[in-house]
Amino acid sequence: MIDIRNLHVSVEGKEILHNVNITILDGEVHALFGPNGSGKTTLIMTIIGYPQFKVTKGEIIYEGKNLLNLEVDERARLGIGLAQQRPPTIKGVKLRSIIDFYSKNNPEKVDYISKQIEKFEMQDFVDREINANLSGGEIKRSEIFQMVVASPKFFILDEPDSGIDPEFLGKIGGMLTEILKPKKNQNQISTKNTGLIITHTGDILKYFDANQAHLMMGGNIVCTGNPKEMLKQIQQHGYEYCVRCNRRKREL
Ligand SMILES: Nc1ncnc2c1ncn2[C@@H]1O[C@H](COP(=O)(O)OP(=O)(O)O)[C@@H](O)[C@H]1O
Ligand SMILES: [Mg+2]
Repeated sequence: MIDIRNLHVSVEGKEILHNVNITILDGEVHALFGPNGSGKTTLIMTIIGYPQFKVTKGEIIYEGKNLLNLEVDERARLGIGLAQQRPPTIKGVKLRSIIDFYSKNNPEKVDYISKQIEKFEMQDFVDREINANLSGGEIKRSEIFQMVVASPKFFILDEPDSGIDPEFLGKIGGMLTEILKPKKNQNQISTKNTGLIITHTGDILKYFDANQAHLMMGGNIVCTGNPKEMLKQIQQHGYEYCVRCNRRKREL
């Protein structure tokens, strides 16, 4: 589905990512761990195509197409969706306008969306301006709900579990389960969305089985492995242990 090869990215003239390589196959969900400032958000902003993130080397191939030649909206039309770590407030635009956009000319989707609004208790959110006067946890809920509605083929969640209390985390976990449910495409074939989930705490991993995890440090992927095992090692021994462990494995 997506192949990130030898990716080098600079912001304001400074190289942040150095030789990042990640391959995510169709229907897989990968987790991305890493300390603050290691370059996780830079990576996903580059996938989405924010212009301030300049690719100086490498490529991102998505469904056989080189993403780097495409604008942000063209990437979105290919089915790439992002729930941002710190989404902006959009005054004058209600959440309902975005939701209505997805259900335009699609009666089945209208029904699906109204069920999801009820299921995730989003009634109070839909007629408010996007993220205006919402708490941190409510912003996450609203942002990830948009992924439920859009159901992009390749979804990216940037720290859906940061700064969230346990009750809200359960709601976000429920939304993730919904995003991951196999859905029928226009040919009535059941398909599963593919995803990349950045998690600093790993809390969200309780709600799904990630296929692989990657650890980013200092703008490099320093370790790739089993998500639950890696998280356990990081929680018990810190990030450095994971790096050393990977080095040991390579030396064997
Ligand atoms: N727009 C920007 N301008 C300047 N530096 C930036 C910008 N965005 C990110 N950086 C820097 O890039 C590094 C990685 O940041 P980021 O990708 O946000 O890390 P993470 O998401 O892993 O916490 C940090 O040192 C950060 O200060
Ligand atoms: Mg970040």
